[in-house]
Amino acid sequence: MTWASIGFFLLSGGALYAYFEYEKRKLAERREAAKNEGAGKPLVGGPFSLVDHDGRPVTDLDYRGKFMLVYFGYTFCPDVCPEELEKMAEVTDTLTNKYGYSQETIVPIFISCDPKRDSIAAIKEYVRDFHPKFVGLIGTHAQIKRVAKTYRLYFSAPPKAVDDDEADYLVDHSIFFYLMDPEGRYVAHFGRTDTSEEVTARIIQQIEAREAKK
Ligand code: NI
Repeated sequence: MTWASIGFFLLSGGALYAYFEYEKRKLAERREAAKNEGAGKPLVGGPFSLVDHDGRPVTDLDYRGKFMLVYFGYTFCPDVCPEELEKMAEVTDTLTNKYGYSQETIVPIFISCDPKRDSIAAIKEYVRDFHPKFVGLIGTHAQIKRVAKTYRLYFSAPPKAVDDDEADYLVDHSIFFYLMDPEGRYVAHFGRTDTSEEVTARIIQQIEAREAKK
């Protein structure tokens, strides 16, 4: 062995060692990232206690074991809610007719954020107009405020909405669908720019990923 070859040997040995150390560190970092996955997910959604469109008291626990697709709106909404609920109906139709998923797999839920005007009967009629599978939920102003807060949903009713004599007003509200998993945890939310095809594809992906784990 010449000094040069010894030098080369040490150098390459050192380089090899450094390389393995580098790989080891990267692997540890990846493991750490995998462990923390989900930790960065926003905390959206939570417990609720409301009444369904048949007047039955329900809580979020009644929907455990099923995905929930949750939309907040109100029956007097002039244009946005109908469009979005039409979209939710399309999604529900595709999930049912093309993929065969029943309400046991995913429940489309409409939560009213206008408790003053939206009676149980009005909500029942309203949701049925869009889709027979829709579940309409309502509660007191305090209950709706609480559930909206857990979903990070903004809604603001003008003073008229609490003044008993006034019935003509608009409720300003954010327009999102929330996809919650069978444990009631937030998965995704969709906005107006998401088409029914995109929403459906995302839901299918989640349901299939879930079934693959079983
Ligand atoms: Ni609306």
